[in-house]
Amino acid sequence: MTLQSKEIKPFIGSQVLNSKEELLSGKYATEIRELLEQRGVLVFPEINFTDEEQVAFTKTLGKFAPELLNAGEEVHKITLDTKHSASAEYLKGSMYWHIDGTMNKVPILASILSGKVLSPEGGQTEFCNTYAAYEQLSDKEKAEYDGLTVMHSAWNSLFFYEPEPSVQKLQAMMAIGDAELPLVWAHQSGRKSLVLGCTAYQVVDKPAKESALILNKLRDWATQEQFTYSHEWTVGDTVMWDNTGTMHRARPYDPACGRMMHRTKLEGEEPIVAAAS
Ligand code: OGA
Ligand code: MN
Repeated sequence: MTLQSKEIKPFIGSQVLNSKEELLSGKYATEIRELLEQRGVLVFPEINFTDEEQVAFTKTLGKFAPELLNAGEEVHKITLDTKHSASAEYLKGSMYWHIDGTMNKVPILASILSGKVLSPEGGQTEFCNTYAAYEQLSDKEKAEYDGLTVMHSAWNSLFFYEPEPSVQKLQAMMAIGDAELPLVWAHQSGRKSLVLGCTAYQVVDKPAKESALILNKLRDWATQEQFTYSHEWTVGDTVMWDNTGTMHRARPYDPACGRMMHRTKLEGEEPIVAAAS
């Protein structure tokens, strides 16, 4: 038996059709990781992992990353319902294009998300392939963007869902810190991807208007139809994304509807570094 997979769109996404037992055996781990890097997003339709199985599957693929927000919890509950999650407020930023953990020195390698309770409307998870988006730029554009660095922060994402925050709230988000990151990530593999998202707020050494234009132009480019995949959830689906070569967002849904996803993560293996100039 080999890994059974089917491409979803030319530039992004594959379904993996092996059985739960085959996935849990770990014998396809290398192939799954290679496919993830190539395709950006892997969908395991109605695989129906229990939490224990999801943790075990995650551990076959690399180093399991514990959640920072809810210590001691192996599977993190992703919901906007404040009754079930201390981080529900912070997750409002997940409705805008982002990369997970840009504030960390080494962003996580991958996230694995399972649909437990779905929203009656909206709530699709969308992904874009930032390797493909970079690779399809012209040589002139690549040269223009290769050397730039960008300031990122959690406080900037606050303005997306709360345009007029209290100073108290803003300062609490500012305490999380800022990071200066290359706009173009030169990976150890030799491939390059774009580093964007709602945490990005300023291209270093550019006037505010030019900076905003660059960031918005590239987001628009990277999230165009050909580079994106929108996952319409069925209960029991598991979706895994390469957090180093994609951005993602949840489509709006009613925060009180009970939507519940369970997430595990793989520890990052390389820091975001710029191409040597
Ligand atoms: C996440 C995330 C999107 C969703 O778990 O990091 O952004 O659809 N989730 O819940
Ligand atoms: Mn996210």
